[in-house]
Amino acid sequence: MASQPIDFTELAVPGVRGLAPYEPGKPMAELRREYGVDDIIKLASNENPLGPSPAAVEAVQRSAGDLHRYPDGNGFELKAALAAHHGVAPERITLGNGSNDVLALVALAFLGPGRVSVFSAHAFAVYPIVTCAAGATARVVPALGPETAQPHGHDLEAMAAALDGDTRVVFVANPNNPTGTWVDEDALGAFLDRVPPEVIAVVDEAYFEYAAEEDGFPDASRWLDRYPNLVVTRSFSKVHGLGGARVGYALSHPGVADLLNRVRQPFNCSAPAQAAALAALGDRDHVARSVALNREQRAWLRGELERMGLAVLPSAGNFLTFQMGDASAEVNEGLLRAGVIVRPVDNYGLPGAIRVTVGTAAENRRFITALERQRTRAA
Ligand SMILES: Cc1ncc(COP(=O)(O)O)c(C=O)c1O
Repeated sequence: MASQPIDFTELAVPGVRGLAPYEPGKPMAELRREYGVDDIIKLASNENPLGPSPAAVEAVQRSAGDLHRYPDGNGFELKAALAAHHGVAPERITLGNGSNDVLALVALAFLGPGRVSVFSAHAFAVYPIVTCAAGATARVVPALGPETAQPHGHDLEAMAAALDGDTRVVFVANPNNPTGTWVDEDALGAFLDRVPPEVIAVVDEAYFEYAAEEDGFPDASRWLDRYPNLVVTRSFSKVHGLGGARVGYALSHPGVADLLNRVRQPFNCSAPAQAAALAALGDRDHVARSVALNREQRAWLRGELERMGLAVLPSAGNFLTFQMGDASAEVNEGLLRAGVIVRPVDNYGLPGAIRVTVGTAAENRRFITALERQRTRAA
């Protein structure tokens, strides 16, 4: 056969053709390879700077001898622990390979050609990816203006108005990444009251434990009875420090969980991941320590950034997003050379903005020192 160049993009399903791959924070090994820097701090992926709970590490080590066995495909033990933790029946829980996986399951089960998902501008990047991959249409609702109390945050009024007969899923990130903005209990409740029962309302609470510190921050997991169409997603990647293990879950009506489980890969949550998550869930001290560190260090970081005259968005998460304007690319490059990995978020429709994860006190000091040096150079 004559070897004609093949246009694989043409062969792909329409929704995939226009997609750009998710851009993760630069891995430390990549910086080491590309820049030859050895002493690196990574403040780019909203990971827990304290690492995982020691109990989770031990659990993974204990599970290593059974690596030849498939995991429990139903995640019985982990689901039982989560059910007790949330005070819900295990039938309401769907486990995922990270909460990203659960978001993809929602799209697989409820979206498709001719169907629409609604989400905010500057919302988490996975919503458009799972929507388009499912062949559905993404309806992006303009965010709140920069002068509001939650600049670039979700405009729930506008989002409710954007739901129509074709809409099957609406995504609310609370708090949102990369903005850090959040919606309070009254606003979220009023919004969910307006979501028609045939629209699945996903409330993505990946940063819940950090955000729960805010006055009036809603715990949507308590509203499952009130809103049968509600899906709450949670993650073990953030406060539990298990991003590398990949565990997340959804809480929903059992009927929704049944559908999500139909499209779930049989062993999507590995045995070490389940063991780690189970141990992490039991280590409440580690969670409390992680939340306390974040509270203290986020305030410090914000103070330092503001002292430099930088505009910082409000944040209920373990990260801050600030505006570097035209100097952003140069400053980021300088930070990389200094061994500090942060996350420019221009690709979220926030040109010139940089997101930094709240690290340990030492990491944050090093970041601020490096940033000050870069700013002086860029000026
Ligand atoms: C808002 C939000 N949702 C979901 C996720 C997915 O997290 P994971 O798949 O690691 O659970 C993230 C990760 O950064 C996030 O920021």
